[in-house]
Amino acid sequence: MMTKTTIITGANGNIGSTIAAKLLDQGDSVALIYHGSRNRIDSLIKQYPQNTLSLKADIKDAAFGNKISSVLTKNRWVADTLVHTAAMRSYDHSSLAESEPSVWREVIETNLLGTYNVLRGILRYFANSTQQNQASLRRIILFGSDVSRLGLPYGSAYSASKAAISNISRSLSVELSKDMILINTISPGPVEIDDSDFPEDYRKFRKQYYQDMLKKIPLKRFAEPEDVAALTLFLISEENRYITGEEFFLTGGKR
Ligand SMILES: NC(=O)c1ccc[n+]([C@@H]2O[C@H](COP(=O)([O-])OP(=O)(O)OC[C@H]3O[C@@H](n4cnc5c(N)ncnc54)[C@H](OP(=O)(O)O)[C@@H]3O)[C@@H](O)[C@H]2O)c1
Repeated sequence: MMTKTTIITGANGNIGSTIAAKLLDQGDSVALIYHGSRNRIDSLIKQYPQNTLSLKADIKDAAFGNKISSVLTKNRWVADTLVHTAAMRSYDHSSLAESEPSVWREVIETNLLGTYNVLRGILRYFANSTQQNQASLRRIILFGSDVSRLGLPYGSAYSASKAAISNISRSLSVELSKDMILINTISPGPVEIDDSDFPEDYRKFRKQYYQDMLKKIPLKRFAEPEDVAALTLFLISEENRYITGEEFFLTGGKR
């Protein structure tokens, strides 16, 4: 199997760092894009110094792509895959009627316009950098959420932003087919993650939501980041030659 070079946004996050660890374990190289904290990626960089690059970047920055491509080029790396996990959850859990326009705007700017910045930047990078032997490897994974089909009461901005993401991947699957770039969206239900940094009232809101969800999941547990990583690794592998433009709901059987 050919080794891959993957750009991961949100690489310090719960899911992004798990995907990065699995790719590095199998001998791939990973460009770890982080935003604020970098505690999880620091240990990966220590363990795999040759196969990692790290870069602090904000996906809200329209120049995101230029920043990433100049670091890759400077280090003579050629990336073939993008796994875009970065997103903000809104800790605000007010109803839409009571919500502040600034909070709505921030969520849409990060999750939706941020995804636009990432995709526009990386697609331009792919167009200028891809070598012949990597053309068959180019893959993109975006992250939606099960809330894109369910909605999320008291979280409508987040939910709307996630629904838009899977729609973008359907449009792009057609635009990118001529270049054999496959793009898919993974939309997990609740994932078991570390919530110790979340504000207390948001943790309570989230805990209630998770308890209600658990009753509806046939497999009777939440997804773990490893479950999400397993699907990601398959979709970005050479073995996936025909799946593009799809949204995968990772929900333990819940509809
Ligand atoms: N966990 C779940 O239950 C769940 C369920 C469904 C879908 N998802 C989706 O799966 C993806 C990963 O989730 P996760 O649980 O791993 O989330 P996470 O742990 O909160 O990680 C998200 C990462 O995105 C980064 N980020 C936020 N704003 C950014 C910005 N403006 N520019 C660059 N990076 C930014 C964060 O960095 P900082 O913290 O430093 O800002 C963080 O490392 C997300 O797209 C999420 O919507 C998650």
